[in-house]
Formats: sequence, C-alpha cells, structure tokens
Amino acid sequence: MRPESNSPTSIVIFGASGDLTHRKLVPALYNLFQKNRMPQQFNIIGNARSPMSHEAFRAHMRTGAQTFSGDTFDSAKWDLFAPHLWYHAGDATKPDDMTLLQEFLAERESAQANRLYYLSVAPFLYPTIVQNLGTSQMARDDGGWRRIIIEKPFGIDLASAKTLNGIVHSVFDETQVYRIDHYLGKETAQNILFFRFANTIFEPIWNRNYVEDVQITVAETVDVGHRAGYYDKAGVLRDMFQNHLLQLLALVTMEPPASFNATALRNEKVKVLSAIRPIDIQGTVRGQYEGYRQAEEVAPNSQTPTYAALRLYIDNWRWQGIPFYMRSGKALTAKTSQIRIRFRRPPHLMFNLPEDGKAFAPNTLSICVQPDEGMHLSFEAKLPDSNSATRSVDMEFHYRDSFGKVAIPEAYERLLLDALLGDASLFTRSDEIEVLWGIIDPVLKGWETPDAPQIASYPRASWGPEAADALLAQDGHHWGQGCMHEDQQ
Ligand code: BG6
Repeated sequence: MRPESNSPTSIVIFGASGDLTHRKLVPALYNLFQKNRMPQQFNIIGNARSPMSHEAFRAHMRTGAQTFSGDTFDSAKWDLFAPHLWYHAGDATKPDDMTLLQEFLAERESAQANRLYYLSVAPFLYPTIVQNLGTSQMARDDGGWRRIIIEKPFGIDLASAKTLNGIVHSVFDETQVYRIDHYLGKETAQNILFFRFANTIFEPIWNRNYVEDVQITVAETVDVGHRAGYYDKAGVLRDMFQNHLLQLLALVTMEPPASFNATALRNEKVKVLSAIRPIDIQGTVRGQYEGYRQAEEVAPNSQTPTYAALRLYIDNWRWQGIPFYMRSGKALTAKTSQIRIRFRRPPHLMFNLPEDGKAFAPNTLSICVQPDEGMHLSFEAKLPDSNSATRSVDMEFHYRDSFGKVAIPEAYERLLLDALLGDASLFTRSDEIEVLWGIIDPVLKGWETPDAPQIASYPRASWGPEAADALLAQDGHHWGQGCMHEDQQ
C-alpha cells in the first residue's frame, strides 16, 4: 500500500496556517510516514499568506501531530519526518505569488516530480486558485502526475457546484480531481460495502421485502463554536446532509458494483442517488438550538437550521415504498453517527402473545459508524422460565474487541493515501456532486416558501425538536439508538 513511483512527490497544502492542516492533514501524513506508506521521496509544502519560517512551521505541526495523531507519536520518527516539511508564504490568489511557489517547488523537485495539491482554504477562493494553477502551468501532467484534493463544501447549491465543476475542468481533467468527503474515509463507512458484499447472509434481506424503515442519525454535542460565520450561511443541510448523510445513504442502498474500482463504485452511487424521489417539504423538520442567535457572527434573526430531519424515498425496485429517515444536528445530547435498519415483523405469529404480536420488537441492525464502532443486531429471545414472553437481545460486534484499540485509522489518513495512490473510489465525482446538490437544493428552496414547516427551537443537550418525533409517528415509527445502551440514551 505504498505509492510505488520512484519520482519525488510534492504535497502542496494551500491554507496551511489553518486548523485542518494542524489537526488532520499533517498528523495523517505523519502517521502514513510512520507506517512506511509515504512515497520514497516526498516534500510537504505549506502555503499561506502569513510569513513563517520553515522551523516555525515544523514546530507548529509537531504540536499538531503530538496532539492529534493518536497514541502513536514518536519523537525520533518525527525528527525523521520534519525535514520533509517546508513553508512557503504567498497569496495563491495572485498569479505572481503562484509563479513564485512554482519556482520554490521546482528547486526541490526533479523533472519527473509528482504533485498533490490540497485546497484547504476558504471555499470562495477555490476558483481563483484553480485558475492560477492553470495559468502557471502547474496542473499539467508533464513527467509526473498532478492531482488536486478539494475540501468540502464544493459549491453552495447546484448552480454554484456546476460553475465550480466547469472551472475545475477547464484546468484539470476529472481523473486528476479528488473531492473529499471525510465520512467516506471512515473505516466503518467503508465497511458497509464489505459487510454487504463480502458476506452472503445479509444481502438477500437487504430490500423492501424485509426492511421496514431505515434511519440515519449523525448527532453532535458540539455547537457551531468559532465557525459561526461560515455556519450561519451554510446550515445543517449544506454542512452535513449534502455530503456525509447522503453518502452514508448511498453506501447502504446502492446495488453491488461488478468490481471494486472507482468507476464502478461511483456509477452505482450516482445511480441510486438519482433514484431519490424529490423530497416532500412537509416531510422535513428544521430546528435551531437555543442561544444560537446570540453567538458572534450569527444574524440576530437567523433562520439557519442547526438541526434537520427528513423523510425520503428511493424510486427503484429494491427500495420502493420504504421510508428513509435522516437527522443531524448540533448541540444535541450525544455524539453518535449510526444507521439503523429495522426489519419487518414475522408474517404469522404462532405464539400466544398479547396484542397481535406488538409485544415483539422487530429485528434491528445498527451500523455504528462512531463512536464505539461496530454493528449490533437485535432479535427476540424467549425469556427463560416464562411461558411465551420474549425479550430483545443483542448480538454485538465491536471493532475494539475484534481488532484492538489502534486498528481504526483517521479518515484523512486513508484518503490522503488513496489520493497518492491515484485511487478515487472514496472521492466524489463531478456528476455525483451535482446529483447530491440536486437532492438538497429543492429542500433549501422549499424552506423559503410560506407553507414550509417553521423552524423550531430546541434545548441544548436534547434530541432536537419534538416535530422530528412527530414526523416518524405519522408513519407509526420512532427514532431508535441501536448503538447506544439505555444508560447512554
Ligand atoms: C464536517 C462539518 O464536515 O463534519 C462539521 O463541517 C462537523 O460541522 C463534522 O462537525 C463532523 O465530523 P465528524 O467526523 O466529527 O463526525
């Protein structure tokens, strides 16, 4: 799993003075180095406007790696890694500065060098930086390859995503472009496909004949914190649904690809995402946690939702008529990302139970994306020493038990390695990003109409607005937390 090329590779991070570089990117690259997965020869060049010496950059990145690379930090290894780090000050939106960066890189590279650019800057700067890379001839695969990783959000709606795709394609070929969604780098998200397609026992029941409903919950305890300026313009649909939640949905619902490669995988994702029926605005809930409007950089009358729940349907043979409920919010009572698949009740009950079988809980499979990564399958068992009473019991798989504590790498580690290897399977393709926006855009517009459900305030440390419970109750369903035990709920 090590990039094989003998050519030197430069990893250029635009926006290197930001949080992401310090917290995620450099710790991930350092971990790859520790695991011997970096190319034989490489340089990591941080670029940002503020002046900084190479030494100061290295020292700052060291604290990041120490804090965020897990328990694996090793000073001696860091000392071997640090000389690969460089800092070059400059404003990448200015063509002249880009030319200076190109010269800086060229001094450290041979003619055959590969380059991975990482856009970790404010999204409104993406078009200019991409264009400057084009005019400075820095995007052309001459000798070595050129690739670009683009952070989310990719656009703020369908129109802007299309425009951005147009600009990116005027400079880079799609095969050079890696649109990142860190949820796809999560070990447990990747495992959804292995769980489904490396086993035979689950796939035959993975359809409308056996499934009653599917729930996807991505709950966070943190509030918007210091990102309020960005968040108040984005809101939870753009921040979480357009990317992370819909990606999880695609992994759970897609058809099996014929092979495990970027084209086949992404074709199947696009296919299922394209089959999502336009979302009925009456099947949506939006909420805002109490005190949000008092945060700095938030408009005093802000209508930005920090929570949303919605119901959607997929119009294809496998999923016709099955409701998919999705919810996500900030300042909630627990941090959990999970997918809960509830199966149908048995068609006939021979047991002598009260109330037409309602005493039976339906079988539930919970995919615990984080924390306490694993899977829980709940089913009915006869209560010992009773005549016919049953109780739900759990069969549980925990990563920590099966693979040990350090087995789960950070999402960015996987994604950076894949980009270095040239494997775009876990990155969002241009048509896919447009389909994703095409699902979210009408909801954003629908919320601006007078008939739309009003935004509801919810207390911090709750499970969100009551309207979200009512949404499921309309269908005789309720939200569940299959990954959390009762004392955590
Ligand atoms: C980011 C969002 O993409 O994902 C954040 O912008 C959110 O608002 C974060 O907090 C959640 O990621 P994770 O990995 O902590 O679930």
